[in-house]
Amino acid sequence: MEKKTILSGIQATGNLTLGNYLGALNNWIEMQDKYDCYYMIADLHTLTIRKDPEELRKNTLSLIALYIAAGLDPDKNTIFIQSHIPAHSCLSWVLNCYTYMGELNRMTQFKDKAAKHADNINSGLFTYPVLMAADILAYNADLVPVGDDQKQHLEITRDIAERFNSIYGETFKMPEAYIGKVGARIMGLQDPTAKMSKSSPNELDKILLTDTPEDIRKKFKKAVTDSENVVRYDRETKPGVSNLMAIYGIIKNKTMEEVEKEFEGAGYGNFKSAVAEAVVQRLEPLQKRYYELLENPEKLKAIYEKGDKKASEKANKMLKEVYTKIGLVVD
Ligand code: TRP
Repeated sequence: MEKKTILSGIQATGNLTLGNYLGALNNWIEMQDKYDCYYMIADLHTLTIRKDPEELRKNTLSLIALYIAAGLDPDKNTIFIQSHIPAHSCLSWVLNCYTYMGELNRMTQFKDKAAKHADNINSGLFTYPVLMAADILAYNADLVPVGDDQKQHLEITRDIAERFNSIYGETFKMPEAYIGKVGARIMGLQDPTAKMSKSSPNELDKILLTDTPEDIRKKFKKAVTDSENVVRYDRETKPGVSNLMAIYGIIKNKTMEEVEKEFEGAGYGNFKSAVAEAVVQRLEPLQKRYYELLENPEKLKAIYEKGDKKASEKANKMLKEVYTKIGLVVD
């Protein structure tokens, strides 16, 4: 049987957090043997918010290094840079003509970002989900691993695909969102009711993948819990402790029940240092590989060039089919 196709990407916006790693990258690694995986660096999406050019270039390369350091095997996965495949932008333009303003207006992420960047509500920010739809549909992806903040973008992708298919006949596959286990959403350490975000101004709220062991220990020590002093999973009434349990559970591959048992009677102090040690142990080898790769830009280049080539063949084929169906002259 042919392997199913997976596509996902992360925006090239600098330092990733433990949330990105446990919620995204870590799930991707489990998929590399079972699926035909395409993982891109979403550099075009980052342009919707003003970026320093040099920094964007640097972030793009370091994100590739991080993909590999986290365990994505470049021989098993197609790792590529979004902007290197012009078919994404071309398809995005076409799909824009099959997407309604009213639909885009309902996107909660657009509303959030527009409120946050009131001085730069550009049309790229508005049509961001259409470029994402193009990313996904260009590869006939069956599954798209995303955090639950991206679910709405996947729904609009399906709506656009369905609309196009109903006019021109079966063209795009219907992609499904793949929301990982407990890890789909790692919350902030200081505000466990909001997603751990790399853009959070509070350093204590997030663990960066490049944090030193001392920083990691300090941040977990200061993580917000509650006054019950019992390690019990309840996202509603104990969001802080539940988030720490989720982090520990993913790293140790344990269910929440098993974590509860392990820390019965342990108290928060012991529990927090166990979580911190688990994270330190997991990140140390990752950081070592990451820094080694950054020293070796030729190797990184060879990886994305290989990925770019495979990705562009697939995406160009789809673009040609779409152009033909809508009436553009292709040959
Ligand atoms: N918008 C996604 C995010 O911010 C990143 C992304 C861009 C993506 N294109 C994609 C994710 C295609 C999955 C599939 O997280």
